[in-house]
Formats: sequence, C-alpha cells, structure tokens
Amino acid sequence: MSKELIEIAGKKFVPMISADELQARVRELGETVWRENASANPLFIVMLSGAYVFAADLLRVIPTPVDMAFVKYSSYEGTQSTGALKREIGLPESIKGRTCIVVEDIVDTGVTMKQFMADLKEKGAADVKIASLLVKPENNKANIKVDYCGFSISKEFVVGYGLDFDGNARNLDSIYKCID
Ligand code: IMP
Repeated sequence: MSKELIEIAGKKFVPMISADELQARVRELGETVWRENASANPLFIVMLSGAYVFAADLLRVIPTPVDMAFVKYSSYEGTQSTGALKREIGLPESIKGRTCIVVEDIVDTGVTMKQFMADLKEKGAADVKIASLLVKPENNKANIKVDYCGFSISKEFVVGYGLDFDGNARNLDSIYKCID
C-alpha cells in the first residue's frame, strides 16, 4: 500500500485499507451474498452516493442479471453526522414482497439505516438484509445488525472507494483515515 499522506481541505489522511485488500474482501462478500440469497431473487438497493464503488464491484461478482434500485438519503455535513435525514431519492414502489439487500458504504451512527429500514418495512419489503463495506461498531447506537460486513473500523473519519469528505476523494481506489 502507498504510504503517502494526503491533504483534503486542510485535513490530513493516511492509507488504511489498500486497493488489493478491498478487492479481495469485496469479492468474498459478493460470493457469500449470492450463495446465500440467489434463490430469493433479491432486489439490490444501492445507497447513493457513497456506496457506488462498493456496489459496482460487489454486484459484478454476481454472474447473472439482478434487479437494482438506487436511493439517496443524506445526513452528513463535513466530518459529522447531522442526525437530520433528507430523502433526496426515495424508494421505488416495486419493493413490495421482495427480499431486499441494501448495499451501503458505511454504518456509522446507524441513524440513516434505521430510518431506511422503517421506510422499507412501510413499503412492504418481505425481508431485508444489509451489506455494508464498513461498520463503526463503537458509534452504532441504533444497534443496526449488518448481515454482510466488509471491515469493522474504529471511530475515525475515512475517505476513498466511494466515501467522501464534502464531495471530494470518492475516486481513490483505497481507504484513507483522517489523522487530524
Ligand atoms: P450514519 O447515519 O451515521 O450511520 O451515517 C450514514 C452515512 O454517513 C454513510 O452512509 C456515509 O455516507 C456517511 N459517513 C459516515 N461515516 C463516514 C466516514 O467516516 N467517511 C465518510 N462518510 C461517512
């Protein structure tokens, strides 16, 4: 992994999870998700914007065509969760009776996922599972159960592989953590 320190809007970040580690773990997760859910013909729901890279790699492990939908809920400003949620792109009506697999970049406080799970239930999803690339267990006050977790990390703020700092750094192929 590259050792270089990067700076984004005056904050310093160092490498944390390499591109190779991400690729290997995401492949493994994709295989497990498919092995355990193929028979349910699941609908994959990708949480924009942060999960777009994870979802692209995870879902391309699946060898047959699957249904996908995209939603966008936002709660973050800078490096802090605001706690207040905005539904920028909502759920489609077509989830009634479906097994849904939510593809998320990170479960931090769990506030977003808790609200999203309530919305899925209200729209009639038959079963819901969560695949999250990252989880911060110390912050997960909402006690969200993540069925498929890529990596558990501590409280630090991270960027790269889809995760951003105010819209920046989503393109990085590895994950960096903030050291400020
Ligand atoms: P939660 O509602 O606190 O669980 O956070 C949900 C959203 O906040 C995630 O889907 C991310 O988009 C964003 N988020 C949480 N932690 C981080 C982080 O360390 N880096 C970048 N985005 C984060």
